[in-house]
Amino acid sequence: MNILVINGPNLNLLGERQPEVYGQDTLEELMVWLETSPEAMDHSFKFYQSNHEGVIIDSIQDEREWADGMIINAGAFTHYSYAIRDAISAINIPTVEVHLSAIMEREDFRKISVLKDVCIDQIYGLGKQSYIEGLKILNTNE
Ligand code: DQA
Repeated sequence: MNILVINGPNLNLLGERQPEVYGQDTLEELMVWLETSPEAMDHSFKFYQSNHEGVIIDSIQDEREWADGMIINAGAFTHYSYAIRDAISAINIPTVEVHLSAIMEREDFRKISVLKDVCIDQIYGLGKQSYIEGLKILNTNE
């Protein structure tokens, strides 16, 4: 499978950003760890990170022919970006929404995901393992 991995705003600061919430790994370390995990075997990956909603939408659109599956951590856009939601529904590629932190146990605004309904699953609260669980779901969905 060709798997597109999208990380949204502020995730470029992983490692220094609230490590007690988001962990010690940098985004780069996390993505290398994901790509070299046993669950990643036989898959190809493309990784994108942006702090800008439109750039995220462009990446999703640009890779829509290439990708067979998508893992997205849209950061705070998760909670209000109907434009990213529309992009996910437009491409018709199985997508898993992932979060490092336990969004359901934090502030009320984080409990709402406008992406959830257009994704095949939502994983949160497992730290970096959330990405692996997302990958496992794409594997079983193949
Ligand atoms: C996050 C949770 C979001 O609420 C937050 O805005 C993020 C990261 C997570 O991975 O836990 O930027 O998506």
